[in-house]
Amino acid sequence: MSATRRHFVMKALAAAGAAAGIAPAAEAAPPTGALVEVWKSPTCGCCKEWIAHMEAHGFRVRVHDTGNTAARARLGIPLALGSCHTALVAGYALEGHVPAADVRRLLKEKPQAIGLAVPGMPIGSPGMDGPEYGPRRDPYDVLLVAKDGASRVFSSHR
Ligand code: CU
Ligand code: CU
Repeated sequence: MSATRRHFVMKALAAAGAAAGIAPAAEAAPPTGALVEVWKSPTCGCCKEWIAHMEAHGFRVRVHDTGNTAARARLGIPLALGSCHTALVAGYALEGHVPAADVRRLLKEKPQAIGLAVPGMPIGSPGMDGPEYGPRRDPYDVLLVAKDGASRVFSSHR
């Protein structure tokens, strides 16, 4: 299906959903269409896939292709929890392949924290789950990073 054709189909589905008084997809309900600012390397493919995941779940995304080292340091994510991209949403930092559902929960619960981190790049996390990775799915935790840099498990994916 061409991009234009796919776009048309999505619009038609959304219109049908609106007419029926339902959201286009339950999972795709946007959390206020929150803006996610992302810092990443221009050549990072899995970053692009994560961005697509966030957009598919109703987030708006603004990309900075400047690498994420400076942004990570500025937002206060410890280097030891680092990953390939760093993002900012509603004052919270997001490091790495954090699932949209966890971001939505973060924005709902609004804990006192720097944000969420998925250290490294676990296979099977959003953006690391394409066909090129095969059927492999590694268990991983999403960490809540406190203001003092300490972290605890926010959610487990296994
Ligand atoms: Cu990545
Ligand atoms: Cu990335």
